[in-house]
Amino acid sequence: MKKHLLALSITLAFTSVPGILHAQGNLDAGKQKSASCAGCHGQDGNSQLPTYPKLAQQHASYLIQQLKAFKEDKRKNPIMSPLAKTLSDEDITEIADFYAAQKVSVNPDPILNADDEDEAADDKTKKSVTVESLVAQGGNLYRNGDIQRAVSACIACHGPFGEGNKPADFPALKSQHADYLIKALKDFKSGERSNNPENMMHMIAQKMTEEEIKAVAYRISTMK
Ligand code: HEC
Ligand code: HEC
Repeated sequence: MKKHLLALSITLAFTSVPGILHAQGNLDAGKQKSASCAGCHGQDGNSQLPTYPKLAQQHASYLIQQLKAFKEDKRKNPIMSPLAKTLSDEDITEIADFYAAQKVSVNPDPILNADDEDEAADDKTKKSVTVESLVAQGGNLYRNGDIQRAVSACIACHGPFGEGNKPADFPALKSQHADYLIKALKDFKSGERSNNPENMMHMIAQKMTEEEIKAVAYRISTMK
């Protein structure tokens, strides 16, 4: 019995070591190939500018999907489409694996934009908006959705911690920049971004108000 176990563990050791080396090889290749992306997305996929999405810790399958969509002009973006056309399928897989293996950085606490305060000041009937109230509103929408208006709860697909759902290819959202999340949700709402064949996000975002989009984006940006 013991002998069998020993034999098994030796076999495993021999089969897994080249496997690990191979994976490491791909990660190194992915890191090198991502050099041209680092200026915008950060060396480890944690972009500094809030309009450039973080790619760190994102599911590789989702990154591959999006890069192929840019490449085929299904997801339209004047910056990303030409860049993606320079990548082979192998480049895309290696770069995606590299970003997926990085850790997403935590954001500083959100601050209120001047226009949020203006809106509250203009409209005396409105309760004054604070970051806390927006984040709480967004947290409620994320967890519960809005049953009356048939806005699905984000948690169902993007997970309790914003970690997404790897087998289902639902992207991770946690610690993403709020500005990028707002743009993504507005693009889904308007139909500008519609590369997913099921178009689930369009169905959801078209029912959301601008305030809800902002609130849920702020909440997601604080998820760790
Ligand atoms: C000049 C800046 C810039 C460079 C360089 C750049 N990107 Fe981007 N990237 C962007 C912007 C802006 C977006 C958001 C596009 C949008 O709003 O739809 C984006 C989006 C993406 C997305 C989609 C992320 C998501 O969450 O859906 C992926 C994946 C991506 N880039 C990968 C890359 C890779 C790989 C490279 C290098 C080959 C690269 N980018 C180089 C600016 C850049
Ligand atoms: C039925 C499943 C489902 C639900 C519910 C859902 N999503 Fe999504 N979400 C997706 C899928 C699938 C994608 C990828 C879309 C694509 O490939 O274009 C996505 C993409 C996104 C993105 C873009 C991420 C990126 O990196 O560009 C954001 C932001 C987002 N969802 C926010 C939300 C919010 C906020 C809610 C709740 C109000 C929500 N989602 C509810 C499935 C869902």
